[in-house]
This record gives sequence, C-alpha cells and structure tokens, in this order.
Amino acid sequence: MSSADHLAAPSGAAFTELPPDSTRRNLLIASCAAGGVAGIAAITPLVGSFEPSEKAKAAGAPVTADISGMAVGELRTFEWRGKPVWVVRRSKEMVDELKKNDAGLADPESKRNPSEFTPMPQTRNEYRSLKPEYFVAVGVCTHLGCSPSTRFTPGPQASLPDDWPGGFLCPCHGSTFDLAGRVFKNKPAPDNLPIPPYTFVSDTKIIIGEETKA
Ligand code: FES
Repeated sequence: MSSADHLAAPSGAAFTELPPDSTRRNLLIASCAAGGVAGIAAITPLVGSFEPSEKAKAAGAPVTADISGMAVGELRTFEWRGKPVWVVRRSKEMVDELKKNDAGLADPESKRNPSEFTPMPQTRNEYRSLKPEYFVAVGVCTHLGCSPSTRFTPGPQASLPDDWPGGFLCPCHGSTFDLAGRVFKNKPAPDNLPIPPYTFVSDTKIIIGEETKA
C-alpha cells in the first residue's frame, strides 16, 4: 500500500462535508490551541526514539588499544564499530622496504577516496601511519569484506609471487596488500585497506576512533 492510499477515503465512503470557511477557521484555531500540548507530547517520544540507544552509542564509541609489550612482527586485533582493527608493529627494515613496492601497487600514494580510506591527513604518507613503527588499519578487504591473513615473511611461498615483499593475503579471492595495507595491481580489491581515525595517548596506548588533532 502506498502512502497515498492512507490518505484516500475508504472505498464506498464519502468524505465528511466541510463547514463554511469562517467556522472552519475557528475550528482550526481551537483545535491548534488544544492540540498544541498534545502535539508536543505526541512529537516528544518520536524525537526520543530517533536518539541512538546507549548500546548503539557504545558500539560507535572510541576504543582504547593497549599495545604495550608488542614484539616486532606482532599483530593485535581490536574491535571498533564491529570491525577488526589491526595494530602491527613493524621493524625498521619492513618500513624501509615499503618504498620498493610502489611500482606494483594500484594506489601507492593513497590518493583514491582519501576521506574514506585515509581520513587523517597525517597518515597520508608512504607508510600510512602516524608512527612508522605502528601500522593501524581496518582488517577488512576492500573487495568483498573478507579478513586478509598475515604473510609477513618475504620470499616465495604458496599463493604468492616469488618476489613477495611481506604483507597480507586475502584468502577469498587472492588480493594482496603490502605492509602499509596498499593493494597490489590487478587484484580484485579496488582499494587500499582503510586507516581508521586514531590517536596515541601514550607510547603504549592508542585510542581508535578518535582523530589526532593537527
Ligand atoms: S574479499 Fe578479498 S579478494 Fe575478495
């Protein structure tokens, strides 16, 4: 049934004949005055019902990630807005090797749709992070949403090229990403892994979901 159907007179029923104009105007003023309070009362619960619940607010709230004691090459996963967010501790060698991947990447400088995939300007750099040592990304493949697995060890191995530099492999359709979450060319995934807003509050704590102020 369309919304217009709700407004139509029921089949076979006639609309009530309206009183003359002056009477209609008086009736309208009277009903507005009487209806004012009731109208507010009727509207208030509606407005209330559009406010997010405490649970919904909590689901979208920033989360604190404890990265104390992380070993080089370790990945920790934190849940933010129902998504897995990775923190990877990279070695200096891992970071230094990133530049060599550029020619084989679909979007090496993260220029595509930065508001969605690299929202913080401070992470639009060659290592896609606030601190080169820590890579923070949403661990969801930009093809169809599988979670890529870690393939940090460089070199030949199953399902990867012989010159594999280390990074992530999506098990669903074979998209590959380097250690800055940048997707390699000619893969099903169209974009780099998203970088969430985050900020360091200390050397061992990150708040995911809160932008670093410029
Ligand atoms: S979901 Fe990752 S390659 Fe298809």
